[in-house]
Amino acid sequence: MSIILALETSCDETAVAITRDGEVLASEISSQIALHRPYGGVVPELASRSHLPQIRPLVEAATARAGLRLADVDAFAATAGPGLASSLLIGNTVAKALALAHRRPFLAINHLEGHLLSPFVGAPGGVVPCVALIVSGGHTMLLHCRGVGDYRLLGRTRDDAAGEAFDKTAKMLGLPYPGGPHLDQLAHGGDPTAFDLPRGMLHSGDLSFSFSGLKTAVLYELEKQPQPLTGTRLADFCASIQAAIVSVLVAKTLAAARATGEKVVAVSGGVSLNSGLRASLAAAAAGAGLDLRLAAPALTTDNAAMIAFVAALRFAAGQTSPLESDVDPNLPLVAA
Ligand code: KG4
Ligand code: ZN
Repeated sequence: MSIILALETSCDETAVAITRDGEVLASEISSQIALHRPYGGVVPELASRSHLPQIRPLVEAATARAGLRLADVDAFAATAGPGLASSLLIGNTVAKALALAHRRPFLAINHLEGHLLSPFVGAPGGVVPCVALIVSGGHTMLLHCRGVGDYRLLGRTRDDAAGEAFDKTAKMLGLPYPGGPHLDQLAHGGDPTAFDLPRGMLHSGDLSFSFSGLKTAVLYELEKQPQPLTGTRLADFCASIQAAIVSVLVAKTLAAARATGEKVVAVSGGVSLNSGLRASLAAAAAGAGLDLRLAAPALTTDNAAMIAFVAALRFAAGQTSPLESDVDPNLPLVAA
């Protein structure tokens, strides 16, 4: 039995979680979205400074919810990258201090491995070989996962991440930051074929993505409109943007499953909350006889439970990290 306490401060979420043998006992999150909203994006200096006062109350809330004391924790973990350096440093420094104070090991965890394995948190049978699609605000990638720590990159975005494609086009429509969920909401009932928008790299023959062309096309389309889009036209436009992003994500995920022969498809990251993506993936997986594993909604956007889950797997395998280990804003998940 091992109890892990993990901190996640890679971007604009301060999060603390506790797992016992990989089972989530507590997962506390404090979001900074409201803080960054006036700027239309995350301001790194503000993000790092506001993590600090959040951590202690979150640690206390997590231990209280789990019914444990810090002295019961077997190892302390923190996200070491990728992310904002100054934000990563906060969680890392606190986790290392807790490890030192309680004479327990420290584990540095890759944020992307957290997302990648999040569909398996609490799943009977644990982590199984799969094709993994990570779609978040900062990343869009397809990986072949043959087991914990055995990952091969199949494809990634060449420019914007899928979340950025949602957020940047939503911003052009005047929707509040982050725009992805608002665009999703507005797309309900809209006609996804009403506007002809580009499907970046759909026929590229590889598993790479590109969303910057969509951004430009949306801008041109908006400039053509005699007046701001409202009502049904706005719903149609949102549905068309969503379909342009979702169709490429689904097509390439299926192609990745075919290329690897894997039958399990694990989808994670904030964009996996998108209702259009969930529906299309479910239909495509059913049609192709694939076992679709979506991360639980609470584990899609940044959280510490996914970090604790990975730390638990690595700790069980006898791995720990030195206290001298540094954070890395560009920490790769797969060696180049
Ligand atoms: O995983 P996450 O917290 O980001 C990173 O770790 O980078 O996901 C945040 C992203 C944002 O871009 C947000 O707009 C997007 O996920 N998102 C959505 C939806 N919910 C969150 N995008 C489209 N539809 C949604 N329902
Ligand atoms: Zn993330």
